[in-house]
Amino acid sequence: MKTQRILVAYGSKHGATAGIAEEIAHTLEGDGFEAAVVPARQVRDVEGFDAVVLGGSLYAGHWHRDAVRCAHRNEEALTQRPVWLFSSGPVDSSAEQHEIPPVRSAAKEMRRLHAKGHATFGGSITAETPGFVARSLVKHNKGGDFRNPEQIQRWAHRLGEELRAGENA
Ligand SMILES: Cc1cc2nc3c(=O)[nH]c(=O)nc-3n(C[C@H](O)[C@H](O)[C@H](O)COP(=O)(O)O)c2cc1C
Repeated sequence: MKTQRILVAYGSKHGATAGIAEEIAHTLEGDGFEAAVVPARQVRDVEGFDAVVLGGSLYAGHWHRDAVRCAHRNEEALTQRPVWLFSSGPVDSSAEQHEIPPVRSAAKEMRRLHAKGHATFGGSITAETPGFVARSLVKHNKGGDFRNPEQIQRWAHRLGEELRAGENA
């Protein structure tokens, strides 16, 4: 049977969401899929992929605009294949403790693309994150890397299982 190709696209300002996308792709590859990780703003065509995972970081309650624009630009092709969305945001352990629903802009894209699922993962703000807000949070001990590899891997494994189930249906 042909190996399914999965695109993992992400909108990221300072790299934390890119890291999550890499983790998802790595997990899927370990499960026997082919996976490509591409910044969402570069995605012009998804025709070569059997499924797409599209993620974006959260800023002031909004899903990263590269992810939103990618969803709009590729809407027709995306609605014709399985799509999952993810968000990266909370700089605390809340995303590990309970499921956090998509913010409004991500929920809208879920509906538009008939996405099969969504996950919110913890985000990251460290001393390396540029910007005044990040610096101030780190200074007040409110930063940290809350991306949980096991949680991300669990989600990616489940997604892979769903794809295999769809293949055999
Ligand atoms: C100015 C600013 C605003 C933020 N707003 C939110 C927010 O509304 N909700 C949230 O969950 N996280 C918020 N975050 C946390 C980021 O989403 C988190 O750091 C994320 O991992 C950044 O990913 P990126 O480096 O890929 O852009 C904010 C961070 C900054 C610096």
